Amino acid sequence: MCRRWTPGPQSKGRRSVPPFALRPRVSTAWPGPMERPAQPEVCTLEDIVAAAPRGFRWFQLYVQPDRQLNKQLVQRVESLGFRALVITVDVPKLGNRRHDIRNQLNLKTNLLLKDLRSPQERNSMPYLQMSPIDSSFCWEDLSWFRTITQLPIILKGILTKEDAELAVKHNVQGIIVSNHGGRQLDDVPASVDALPEVVAAVKGKLEVYLDGGVRTGNDVLKALALGAKCVFLGRPVLWGLACKGEHGVGEVLNILKDEFHTSMALTGCRSVAEINQDLIQFSRL
Ligand SMILES: Cc1cc2nc3c(=O)[nH]c(=O)nc-3n(C[C@H](O)[C@H](O)[C@H](O)COP(=O)(O)O)c2cc1C
Repeated sequence: MCRRWTPGPQSKGRRSVPPFALRPRVSTAWPGPMERPAQPEVCTLEDIVAAAPRGFRWFQLYVQPDRQLNKQLVQRVESLGFRALVITVDVPKLGNRRHDIRNQLNLKTNLLLKDLRSPQERNSMPYLQMSPIDSSFCWEDLSWFRTITQLPIILKGILTKEDAELAVKHNVQGIIVSNHGGRQLDDVPASVDALPEVVAAVKGKLEVYLDGGVRTGNDVLKALALGAKCVFLGRPVLWGLACKGEHGVGEVLNILKDEFHTSMALTGCRSVAEINQDLIQFSRL
C-alpha cells in the first residue's frame, strides 16, 4: 500500500536502500542530510526545505490546543511538499524525565520555535516558546485532520495491539511503534518487544515502523524481520551531530548502512524482501 510515500526498502537485483530514516523533531529526511539544527534557535520549515530540497520529509506534529494553529501548520507543510503527517500520540503530558532534569535540558524554555505561526506573526515576534500539547486529543479527532489534509496520517507512539487495532479502525496509513526512546513512562516495553503484537494486530492493513534503541545494523535487521517496514533513529543522529556536525550524522548513517548490509550477508539475505521472522529465535526463558 501507499508506495507513493513510503521509504520502503525495495531491492530486486539492486543494492538495497537501508530501511532507516532520521527522526529529528519536526521532519524526517529520506535519505538526505540531517534537516534539523542542533541549536535551540530553530529554523523554519521553509529553511529546511531549502536546505534539503530532495529530502524525503515527513512532518511530526504535537497536536496544539488551538485548532487553527494545527490547520495552518499542516496545510503549510503539505504545500511545502512534506509527504506525510506524523502525529505523536504518546505525550498527553510530558513524562517525568529525570535525565533531562539532571542534564538541565528543558526544551520548553530552551527551544524557541518560529514555525508555529504565520510568517506575518513571525516577523513581529520571531520566536515562541514551545506551547502546551493538547491533552484532550483523541481518536475521534483524526477525522478532523482528514478534513484539512490529503497527507497520509501516521501515528507515532503505539505500543499495544489494542491501540494498533484502533489505528486500523480509524483508517490511518501507518503507525510508528515507539516508546518515545524511553522518555515518557518508565517500565513500558522496549519498542522491539511490542513490535510483534502490533504487527500481528494490524494484519497488513497499514504499515508499521519502529523507533527506539536502534543502534546497530543488527537492530535494523531484527526490526525488519519482526515486521517493521523501516526504522527511525533518534539519539544516534544527535550524537553524530554533537560529535562532528553534519559530517558526524553522515558517519552514523554510513556505519549503520554498512552494518546492515553485513548483517544481511551473514544471515543469507540477498534482498530486504528475504528478511523474515525465521531469522529470529525468541528467548526460551
Ligand atoms: C532530545 C529529544 C527530543 C525529542 N523530541 C521529540 C518530539 O518533539 N516529538 C516526538 O514525537 N518525539 C521526540 N523525541 C523522541 C524521538 O522522536 C524518538 O521517538 C526517540 O528518540 C527514538 O529513540 P532513540 O533515541 O533510542 O533512537 C525526542 C527525543 C530526543 C532524544
